[in-house]
Amino acid sequence: MQIIVCENYEELSRKGAELIAAEVKSNPAAVLGLATGNTPIGIYRYLVESYNKGELDFSNVKTYNLDEYLPIDPTDENSYCAFMHYHLWDKVNLKAENCHIPAGNVGMEKAAAECAAYDKQIEAAGGIDLQLLGIGRNGHIGFNEPGDHLLAGTHAVELTESTMAANGPLFENPADMPRHALTMGMGAIFAAKKVLLVANGKNKHDAVMGLLADEITTALPASLLKLHQNLILLCDKEAYNG
Ligand code: F6R
Repeated sequence: MQIIVCENYEELSRKGAELIAAEVKSNPAAVLGLATGNTPIGIYRYLVESYNKGELDFSNVKTYNLDEYLPIDPTDENSYCAFMHYHLWDKVNLKAENCHIPAGNVGMEKAAAECAAYDKQIEAAGGIDLQLLGIGRNGHIGFNEPGDHLLAGTHAVELTESTMAANGPLFENPADMPRHALTMGMGAIFAAKKVLLVANGKNKHDAVMGLLADEITTALPASLLKLHQNLILLCDKEAYNG
């Protein structure tokens, strides 16, 4: 594991964007696994800035997002789909047909078929070259929540109270937050050629320590990433030192 500790969120965001930009420059048809949430917002801002300076071309890049709430309409402003349109997809020259996210509006009964189709699409694209990950306070990656087992494929999950508490305030009415999500499983994440896990702030310190500790446990899904051959942990001083 390569560990990069940054002074602050700005430096972390710039560094994260540089790593993704390097991937896209070395492979203009790169397949990127993307994350939503607060952590990657700065990274997307710097990527858009580079694109606007003419330094980056996304015309052949494909993106696959980790997760989406269930049920939610893609046009709902709280959807991860809307988040991606706002922070990245609509601001660079990614082709619409190359931007992918699990469909949160399929309904519970069609969720399994949507998940299987999503995994097939990722496989058909040749797998993920670089997977960007945030980390939950409880150590979740994607919405692979702590438990006594984890799943390999994309699947529907019931969100934990910790995740509900962390994300609920982002909804105008926290009670409107869906209690379920569709998430890539550990399989596609582990099959990624490179994983870039980003964490900032004191409230991620315990989760980061869990990743760095020797133990590997499904009670802290991120701890499994220690087994990945090409993991970069990019964090700020607060997440690293507490
Ligand atoms: C989002 C995702 C989640 C977040 C995690 C951290 O696509 O998969 O695992 O990365 O919940 O969220 P923030 O960055 O808001 O602290």
